[in-house]
Amino acid sequence: MRRLRVLAFAAAAACSAAAAAQGEHERRLAAELVVMAGDLRRLQSDAETPQHREGLHARLAGALSSLPLMLRRAGAEASAVSALRAALEKRDWRALRAGLDALKKRHPFEAGALLPREATPERLRLGAAIHRQACAGCHEAPATDTPLPAFNLFEQAKRTPREEFAARLLIGVRGDRGTAWRNPFSDLELGALLAYYRNGKTDGAAGK
Ligand code: HEC
Repeated sequence: MRRLRVLAFAAAAACSAAAAAQGEHERRLAAELVVMAGDLRRLQSDAETPQHREGLHARLAGALSSLPLMLRRAGAEASAVSALRAALEKRDWRALRAGLDALKKRHPFEAGALLPREATPERLRLGAAIHRQACAGCHEAPATDTPLPAFNLFEQAKRTPREEFAARLLIGVRGDRGTAWRNPFSDLELGALLAYYRNGKTDGAAGK
């Protein structure tokens, strides 16, 4: 009897761990779709230099090649992706936009649930500390004459819709392929970074 109960507990724990893993795959997929749509918007805009457009194009191509795996991991099917790839190849932005929008509708990104809105002093301090230790080296005063530059994250937070910036943070530190693979930060830390970037360096102690 007791054994059974233990077994039932273990089974329930395994199930909820599987459900959590599934939820994380779904969330990453949803965030990736938001980032791809954002990259497409930047690609189409007149504001980007030809060099940056080239970088965005390459990044979209890369994202589309990992999209089937992300879809399958999230329990979805991946048949729509080949049409998206064809659209990118032909630079048929309307078709690519429509395809991404359809996927986004099926896999909505819940930024609000992920990232708290309130910028408490603790959150700002934590965000400042992480930024100083792990991000400032590349993201403050970056060189922008490369295809995919590391932008100043305070400026990017200002010019990017809130949901999209949250998705970009969740998808992670994209400095190189090694770090892009997995985001090592917890939701709490991501929330702190988001609050910090949205609110600027209001904490005088933050420094550089
Ligand atoms: C080794 C240098 C380096 C470090 C350290 C680094 N980044 Fe980056 N980051 C980059 C580069 C280069 C890019 C642009 C490449 C790209 O977008 O694929 C980038 C891109 C990003 C993007 C995506 C921008 C976009 O347009 O989607 C975000 C968000 C970001 N970094 C946040 C961070 C945060 C937060 C940290 C610290 C926790 C961090 N980065 C640390 C170099 C770095």
